[in-house]
Amino acid sequence: GKVAVLFGGSSAEREVSLMSGAGVLEALRSRGVDAHAFDPAERDLTDLKREGFDRCFVALHGRHGEDGTVQGALELLGIPYTGSGVMASSVAMDKVMTKRIWQADALPTPKYVRLAFDQQSREQIMVVPDVLGLPLIVKPPREGSSIGVTKVQGYSQMQDAVALSAKFDADVLCEEFIEGEEVTCAVLGQGLDARALPVVRIAAPEGAYDYQNKYFTDDVKYQCPSGLPEAEEREIQRITLAAYHTLGCRGWGRADVMIRASDRKPFLLEMNTSPGMTSHSLVPMSARAAGIPYEELCVRVLASAAL
Ligand code: DAL
Ligand code: MG
Repeated sequence: GKVAVLFGGSSAEREVSLMSGAGVLEALRSRGVDAHAFDPAERDLTDLKREGFDRCFVALHGRHGEDGTVQGALELLGIPYTGSGVMASSVAMDKVMTKRIWQADALPTPKYVRLAFDQQSREQIMVVPDVLGLPLIVKPPREGSSIGVTKVQGYSQMQDAVALSAKFDADVLCEEFIEGEEVTCAVLGQGLDARALPVVRIAAPEGAYDYQNKYFTDDVKYQCPSGLPEAEEREIQRITLAAYHTLGCRGWGRADVMIRASDRKPFLLEMNTSPGMTSHSLVPMSARAAGIPYEELCVRVLASAAL
């Protein structure tokens, strides 16, 4: 049947989604799938039904795409879609809600404070306790691709960091900075069949794994297979899989993890329920290391489409 690749959308990650979706569309077509581009920013989702689409590959990132809203619409339309359902998508989109769940299930995640604002004046009504230490990370809880993120080195930078974050989200997340290595771990499948893929190790110039370096430069060095000691690789895969299950994820996902330099303890930063599929993205890299080419990855994710 007809497959719609949903991409574009209206979030701050639209540009990234356009790249992800173009890759997925081409890959599915190359494997003989009757796939068509569909941009929810330009079209009404109800057209999917009218035009006879019987499955959707969700290649949207960020709000109104990865956050459960599109998933809810597809549930109502009765069209199976790839990736997590409404609740897991919506919880995973919010890094604060995600951390609360992981903490409740004793999964390691950096300490944090969610800044609260007075609803009327937008005046900040909670100070950042020094329990987080310096440097600390300030970020919008419901964004992706490092948009609006600042690494704060001194408290004099806080005001600018909060103002930048607040451009993208009403809430502001302040998070303990874990000094160490950044890695990522993808999961394919659901329930008992879910498997963690090989860990990818990320080395960005001066630690700047930011929007520009994520997609538009070749300055970041990636290592997959990671070359980590086997016990560390397995521990990262174990906590990633636990993090995936406890959020109720389905189909696929990718956890971003920091390994603390001082004691090699891994900390979960977030779960991406609609991971990037661009030429620079990490799930394709990890799948390739596991012997799954990009086209095959797309076909497998599509095969997991469900309601
Ligand atoms: N948010 C981007 C798309 C990612 O996690 O890959
Ligand atoms: Mg993300």
